Amino acid sequence: MALQKRSLLSTDELTDADLRAVVARGVRHSAGQAARTLPLTGDVVGVYFRMTSTRTRTAFSAGALRLGAQLVSYGPDDLQTNTGESLADTGRMLGRMLDVVVARTGRPQRELARWAAQKDVAVVNAMTAEEHPTQALADLTTLQARFGRVEGLRVLYTGEGNNTAAALALALTRFRGVHLELRTPAGHGLSPQIRARAEAHARRSGATLAERHHMDGLPAEVDAVYTSRWQTTGTSKADQGWRAAFAPFQVTAGLWEPYPKAVFLHDLPAHRGEEVTAEVLDGPMSVAFEQAENKMHSAMAVLEWCRGAL
Ligand code: CP
Repeated sequence: MALQKRSLLSTDELTDADLRAVVARGVRHSAGQAARTLPLTGDVVGVYFRMTSTRTRTAFSAGALRLGAQLVSYGPDDLQTNTGESLADTGRMLGRMLDVVVARTGRPQRELARWAAQKDVAVVNAMTAEEHPTQALADLTTLQARFGRVEGLRVLYTGEGNNTAAALALALTRFRGVHLELRTPAGHGLSPQIRARAEAHARRSGATLAERHHMDGLPAEVDAVYTSRWQTTGTSKADQGWRAAFAPFQVTAGLWEPYPKAVFLHDLPAHRGEEVTAEVLDGPMSVAFEQAENKMHSAMAVLEWCRGAL
């Protein structure tokens, strides 16, 4: 029987049941409890990273191989996009030869949506300008493994409202009783479009979402504190004074005083001394490296979902 080819550009494309199933499957992979059935045997998975990546590229490459697929891998310097071929034509080509394409374009999501519209290939968004959905799935996998649930968790996110924060907001607000509190520097918060979508999810699910541009009056209790690199994918910012604007949002040991049981999450790579101190990142409450490993386990769940093998 031919396997399905479902694309994942955003967690919004997953039904509530599928979102929970992908997270649960990631947890099973991470616990070594998923049967090794090699459901992607015979598949060729293309892994196309137009931008640098350590975790996501390795997670999908290792994950695809562990599921029985074979790989074709392209780094930032490999394709004719560098000599002027359009991303659209590149996608049309790859779709004719591959079963799944995992792509980090760093470009507007609508470009990747054109690839996905081909239907003869499953396209996975490994990070566009707007969203980093496979990061959010690894984050939820980590929370589910740690707390045994996502429902009802209270998460404080501090730092840039980047594509990691966007994906986190879109995914967490699908779970009843979640409270997501974002503290982002003014001018560097969630985009209005992402925020509106996350608020709509929260209204439907019974979650709550708040975003403020200062660090006063933090929540009395949280289960997890999350931050992300200030210079997402190594890019700098247009406003000269951005470091001063970001400084109050650094995650320090002092932030933990009211939250002694809270875990620390970071999508990595980290810049110790910028968004987080070394004491926190390397401290006992940090699950950042477990979270990074979960990128592979949740990538396997995503690939299985794409091929209808979950
Ligand atoms: N968190 C994350 O996406 O890491 P990489 O950029 O190394 O893939």
